[in-house]
Amino acid sequence: MSGQTPDRRTVLKGAALAGAAGLGVAACSTESKLGHAKNPTPTAPVELGAASEVPVGGAKLYREQRLMVHCPAQGQYKAFSAQCTHAGCVLDKIEDNEGNCPCHGSRFDVTTGKSLKGPATAPLPAVPVKVVGGKLIAGPDA
Ligand code: FES
Repeated sequence: MSGQTPDRRTVLKGAALAGAAGLGVAACSTESKLGHAKNPTPTAPVELGAASEVPVGGAKLYREQRLMVHCPAQGQYKAFSAQCTHAGCVLDKIEDNEGNCPCHGSRFDVTTGKSLKGPATAPLPAVPVKVVGGKLIAGPDA
């Protein structure tokens, strides 16, 4: 019977590890509800509303469309995916021309899409954008 104690300890240790793994899975599934999408960039043209809403020298976030538009100078626009290149969360705000990812704190330069702070290292993909009748249209063929 002396062999029973180590066996029991092994079982308990295994249960504790399984519990920790379970928590990890729960965290991941929460993230998947935050708007992750298979394609980080639009597959069809998307209208974003009045181009004048993007501040000159700044950027505007379009969370629903998962896009971000930067206006380097009056009448010029650059668009990027607003889906974080780390695990795919959608950026939640722009502060000091840096896009913030709410999931793990990555920051991106809104003027270039470049990652400024990890864990994300890859830049946000650029998306073609144009102005038609005063409205921004982003996506393929834009
Ligand atoms: S998903 Fe953006 S930092 Fe992890």
